[in-house]
Parts: sequence; C-alpha cells; structure tokens
Amino acid sequence: MILGYDREIWKEFTVKVPVTVTLGKNYSHFLLTGKSGSGKSLSANWYMYQMLHNRESRVYIADYKAGEEYEALEGSPSYASGEDAFQMVKDFYGLFQEIRKNRLHPQIHHTIYIEEWYGFLSYAEGKDKKLKTELMSMVGEILAVGRGLNIGIMLCVQRADASHFSAGTREQFQTVICFGRCSAEQFRMLGFHGELESNPSSNYKAGEALVLIDCQDSVREIIVPFIENEDVLCKQVRHYLDKQPTIAELIQAVAEGESRISSV
Ligand SMILES: Nc1ncnc2c1ncn2[C@@H]1O[C@H](COP(=O)(O)OP(=O)(O)OP(=O)(O)O)[C@@H](O)[C@H]1O
Ligand SMILES: [Mg+2]
Repeated sequence: MILGYDREIWKEFTVKVPVTVTLGKNYSHFLLTGKSGSGKSLSANWYMYQMLHNRESRVYIADYKAGEEYEALEGSPSYASGEDAFQMVKDFYGLFQEIRKNRLHPQIHHTIYIEEWYGFLSYAEGKDKKLKTELMSMVGEILAVGRGLNIGIMLCVQRADASHFSAGTREQFQTVICFGRCSAEQFRMLGFHGELESNPSSNYKAGEALVLIDCQDSVREIIVPFIENEDVLCKQVRHYLDKQPTIAELIQAVAEGESRISSV
C-alpha cells in the first residue's frame, strides 16, 4: 500500500517515489494523527481504496461521527455510523475472537477503520463509562494480539494521547502517520526523535505528513496525492465494500469450518 510520495524528492526533482508498507505480519496497525483539516480522513479513504482494490485487506468501518466524507458508504453492511459504530467494533472484535479461538491464520488481512477515536471515546463515556472501558479494551486487545492473526486497526485521532489507549497499546502501531503541523510534544509522544526537534512539519499543508514505520531507517516526509474528486473515491470504496462478505457471514464461515475466511 502506498502511504504517499517522498516529499523531499518531490520538492527537489519533481519525481514521485512512493513510500509503501505491505500489510501482513509486520504491518497491521496504522495510526493517523493530526489536527482538524490536516487530511486524515481523505488519506484514510485513499488507503482503504488501495487495500480493497489491491485485495490486500477486507475493510470494515466504524464512523461514529457520521462524516460527510463517507456519505456514499451509508447503507453498506461494512460501514456503521453514529451509535451503530459501537456494534461494528463489537462485531469485528467478535470475528477476532473467533479466529483466535479456532487458531486460524487467515491469508487475507482484515482491517477495521475507526474514525475520530477521541470523539468516539468521549461520546461513549457520556453514554456510559463502562462502554468507554469496553471500547478501549477491545481495541487494546486487537492492537496487542491481532498482528499475528492478520487482523489490524487503522485508527484516526487528532491527538494520540496515551490515555486514549489501554495499558501501553499505543506503542503497537507499526505505522504512525502524523499529518499537518504537529506540536513538538506530539512528536515525542509518537516516538519521533532528535532530528525532528526543529519540527519540519511547521509548513505542511493538508495531505502532507511525517511517517514513522517500524524497521525502516528513518522518519519520512510524505505527500498524499491530490484527490480531486473525493466523492468518486468514496463511491469506489463502496463498490468494493459491497462485494466483500459481512462480518456476520465471516463469523458463520469460521463456525462452519469454511475456507471463505482465508480466501478472497
Ligand atoms: N490528498 C488530498 N487531496 C486533496 N485535498 C486534500 C487532501 N488532503 C486533504 N485535503 C483537503 O483538506 C480538507 C480536510 O481534509 P480531511 O477532512 O481529510 O481532514 P481531517 O484531518 O480528517 O480533519 P478532521 O479531524 O476535522 O476530520 C479536505 O476536505 C480537502 O479539501
Ligand atoms: Mg476527518
């Protein structure tokens, strides 16, 4: 999957060199952070499009905010907005549990995309404190154990405070993408180090980011390609979502010992 193009090379030579990660054993979890308007959601849409189009992962979406940018997904069984977002996380966690219990190792990756995690948590807390704890613990467990089962989380949050994750599970994101201008405090929090003290992101535009990828040499600066028509991109995502099995169907397939869970 292409995260974006190397910003430095682009600025110097106008050549697009992709910065990529391959979903699977080493790269399951993605953290997208950045202030409002920095380009998280639009970039996430492009990432989901690639995962589905390249058959790298099935994708399920929990969007409590019910963002305008995902309007074309409304009605898809793989997309849940508002209150239904809780059920989507629970269902995905159920699938994770079934896969683990049955000691399966699906060939295909399964990803849950969670929009605006902080808002989701605050909303849950406002409804019932237990709900927030439950959400954090389900997400924490998938972050801790999902990688080996080809199960991952792509999570969007404006500020990735440690308190938004259960017991150190924030450290489990193998790919951290920090969009737009970011405070020095956020950098350090996310594991960016020394060379960034000068905070190069201070003049980043929407869709420009710093990326930290486990086992890759250094921090990379990227530009997500300009997406001219957000609506068309979202409709493409919808097209693929409609073709994939629902979580309920996958759970049933696991129970019945079918191979559908493994194959595309
Ligand atoms: N790759 C891109 N191509 C074109 N426009 C972009 C791109 N990334 C961001 N933008 C512009 O920036 C705007 C804000 O992007 P986006 O909605 O993704 O931000 P966000 O970080 O999700 O904000 P919030 O936290 O408020 O949800 C978009 O509506 C679009 O106009
Ligand atoms: Mg957004």
